Amino acid sequence: VPVSVVATAGTTTVTSVDPLAAVAEICERENVWLHVDAAYAGSAAALPEMRSLFAGWERADSVLFNPHKWMLVPLECTGLFFRRMERVRRAFSVVPNYLETPEGLAVREYMDYGIQLGRRFRALKMWMTLRAFGASGVRARLRAHLVLARALRGVLEREPGVTIAAPTPFSVVAFRWTPPDLSPEAADAANARILARINEDGRVFISHALVSGRYTLRVAIGNVRTERRHLQTFLQVFREAVAAESPRKP
Ligand SMILES: Cc1ncc(COP(=O)(O)O)c(C=O)c1O
Repeated sequence: VPVSVVATAGTTTVTSVDPLAAVAEICERENVWLHVDAAYAGSAAALPEMRSLFAGWERADSVLFNPHKWMLVPLECTGLFFRRMERVRRAFSVVPNYLETPEGLAVREYMDYGIQLGRRFRALKMWMTLRAFGASGVRARLRAHLVLARALRGVLEREPGVTIAAPTPFSVVAFRWTPPDLSPEAADAANARILARINEDGRVFISHALVSGRYTLRVAIGNVRTERRHLQTFLQVFREAVAAESPRKP
């Protein structure tokens, strides 16, 4: 018997978003717990103009996001929201007599909402980030990342031999170098070599993923210090890495 469904808002590979409202509809009908994994993209919901991408997640039983991924907070810090906290407390709370306090349920003891007893003060990083930048400062930086990602995508759309691998709803641009004379398998190998060259160069660091089974390059923009000039450096390093491929072409 299915007891829970995990929908993703911002998949790891291409940051796609599941049809959250439709999934919520089914979960409500079947009385199944809906968890929304918004680990990376959830931070974008801080921007009113991005909220429509998350429509339906307000019907979830739990939602998670990682401020360390895209809310400028250092590793690691997770925000986990529950619709009915009391249920979570009942599932996890095990209080031995030496941890009983006179406050009882009047205070929220985090040991009652998970497996860990001893835990780091992760919320401090989040608090300090918000104190340092303010909510408006965080929003401004997320918007800047979105602008950078769209600009990079625009350049890559016009770049000879490059195919954009997926829509760019957030700040991750997924693409492949696919010159017409290379078979898909040869292009996979070429893209893997390009990634290795780029990362060995050391000026920028990018990642990869299999998208529809094909080796795909990904630029993820999320660091507080990333600026347009870093994308220019990336393009330069990328073009050098592609140029090193050219002699291999028949
Ligand atoms: C959608 C998604 N869920 C979960 C994770 C893993 O999160 P964590 O490192 O907090 O376990 C990632 C990325 O690493 C992710 O992109």
